[in-house]
Amino acid sequence: RDGGALSSRVRIVAGDCREDIPVQADVYIIKNILEWDDDSTRRALANVLKAARPGARVIVIENLVDDTPSMKFTTSMDLLLLLNVGGAKHTRLSMVERLTDAGLVLGEVRPVNAYLHAFECTVPA
Ligand SMILES: C[S@@+](CC[C@H](N)C(=O)[O-])C[C@H]1O[C@@H](n2cnc3c(N)ncnc32)[C@H](O)[C@@H]1O
Repeated sequence: RDGGALSSRVRIVAGDCREDIPVQADVYIIKNILEWDDDSTRRALANVLKAARPGARVIVIENLVDDTPSMKFTTSMDLLLLLNVGGAKHTRLSMVERLTDAGLVLGEVRPVNAYLHAFECTVPA
């Protein structure tokens, strides 16, 4: 927000993360994004790896199709995503597969709250 406490530290960059992520950062937070088609997920993660320095952290936060209280919400979102963008919500395993296939080193997977999980990854050397 203009004039907000963090405004001098924020830069909004327009673009398509499947084409390019022109930002070098210590931490990349990707929240409720990797729920579209698999090719888009592959391209977005490949662009994170291209932009990031070795050792940078990549934290992917998602609602999972699992046994948590988010199941009803996630199942409706799963259907909505399938019908609208050919996407899907993930299980813990299908998310882990996509992150490791992209070349990220997976650390812990932690609940953020009753609805969201964080997959803590690192960009390898
Ligand atoms: C489900 S929302 C999640 C927003 C936010 N990260 C959150 O968790 O509240 C997905 C966001 O991705 C943006 N988006 C969609 N396609 C994109 C693309 N190709 N490149 C960059 N951003 C995109 C949308 O504009 C939208 O803000």
